[in-house]
Amino acid sequence: NQCLLRSQPSINFLLLLFYFYSASSVPGTVQSIVRQVPTPSKVSIGRDNDAFMRLRSCRSEAGDVHVYTKALVAYAFALARREEKRRALLDSLDKEAVKDVGSVHWQRPEKQQTDHLFYRPRAPSAEVEMTSYVLLAHLTGWPALSWADLTAASLIVRWLSKQQNPNGGFSSTQDTVVALQALALYGASTYSRSGMVATVTLRSRQDIQARFRIDDTNRLLLQRVALPPVPGEYGTQVAGQGCVYTQTSLRYNVHIQQGQAPFMLQVHAVPKTCAGASTHRTFDIAINVSYTGKRPASNMAIIDVKMLSGFIPVKSSVKKLQGQSQVKRTEVSTNHVLLYLEQVSNVTQSYSFTVEQDVSVQRLKPALVKVYDYYETGEWGARLLGSFPCSHKSGP
Ligand SMILES: *[C@@H]1O[C@H](CO)[C@@H](O)[C@H](O)[C@H]1NC(C)=O
Ligand SMILES: *[C@@H]1O[C@H](CO)[C@@H](O)[C@H](O)[C@H]1NC(C)=O
Repeated sequence: NQCLLRSQPSINFLLLLFYFYSASSVPGTVQSIVRQVPTPSKVSIGRDNDAFMRLRSCRSEAGDVHVYTKALVAYAFALARREEKRRALLDSLDKEAVKDVGSVHWQRPEKQQTDHLFYRPRAPSAEVEMTSYVLLAHLTGWPALSWADLTAASLIVRWLSKQQNPNGGFSSTQDTVVALQALALYGASTYSRSGMVATVTLRSRQDIQARFRIDDTNRLLLQRVALPPVPGEYGTQVAGQGCVYTQTSLRYNVHIQQGQAPFMLQVHAVPKTCAGASTHRTFDIAINVSYTGKRPASNMAIIDVKMLSGFIPVKSSVKKLQGQSQVKRTEVSTNHVLLYLEQVSNVTQSYSFTVEQDVSVQRLKPALVKVYDYYETGEWGARLLGSFPCSHKSGP
């Protein structure tokens, strides 16, 4: 365990485990998540001198330190109030930053070029996360925040807020908790009680569609309006003082295609045929998964099985999967079964669990089974469980 940081996804998973649990059901709005994020003083590596020794030896061994590691270590030094080290790492990170007009972020050198299965303008999870760590490191200056740190922070915030999804989160639970903590700290660091008022006017052609007023009483409130004619031409005008964040979101359905997805996924109901009365009520869902992407193997991967209407998973059969070598954890909710896998390689892994009918539903629709890389959510595969033992004979 000398060089924990080499295997960055797992150390990072450990570090943030408590975040993960405290925000495990990602709520729908920014405000409610923000309240659940614990204060940074709970991150323990910043206080541990042994950890610093290890970090240093990792640095010299590894030579060129990964941007992700640097960002994480810069924040750890910031929390430990090692101002010189924080400064040195931030200066070095600055040289590797991707600087666009008015915004700054960080990318991984060995950036995964995921094939575009669908339009996906958002940054990969790992980049949101490391950029957030740099932001946290900038905002944790000691003894006081410098003007230079605040200026750097504001450029990072501009990039980060563009990656936020319409529900206030990012790609995964992990990048969401780190990014929201960083954005919340920025909010707290720049807060002023000055009674600023801004109005945002939304127009389509010449017609005013909506007008929002933002003041002290509703500055944390998310205000929304639906844009009925799509496609259409819309524009916004902002007047007043302060900083207002506007976002548009367009939702549409995509046709699921196995195609060149980096995961191979096979899903079947077992038995395949309607053998007797019991298969009406209970059968197994069997899944084969392997990784076929460009890397030797995936990171931690999640298989998400959405239940068929009227069917519920037999909890004991899901729990039993925890005995299999790659399964780290299982979760059962009302209509999903989640399997957390250590990693998926080109060797096929097989899983199966039992479902039983709770209420009879006619003309069942196929159930969606998805697998995705937890740290590279752009890499995923999906399959529909379209036929089940008695699918053609159910109901009167
Ligand atoms: C999984 O793979 C095995 C071996 O190739 C095969 O027998 C089985 O039917 C597969 N299961 C599914 C759900 O496709
Ligand atoms: C899986 O990958 C390893 C190397 O990573 C390779 O040696 C092996 O042939 C591959 N197996 C299959 C079934 O593709």
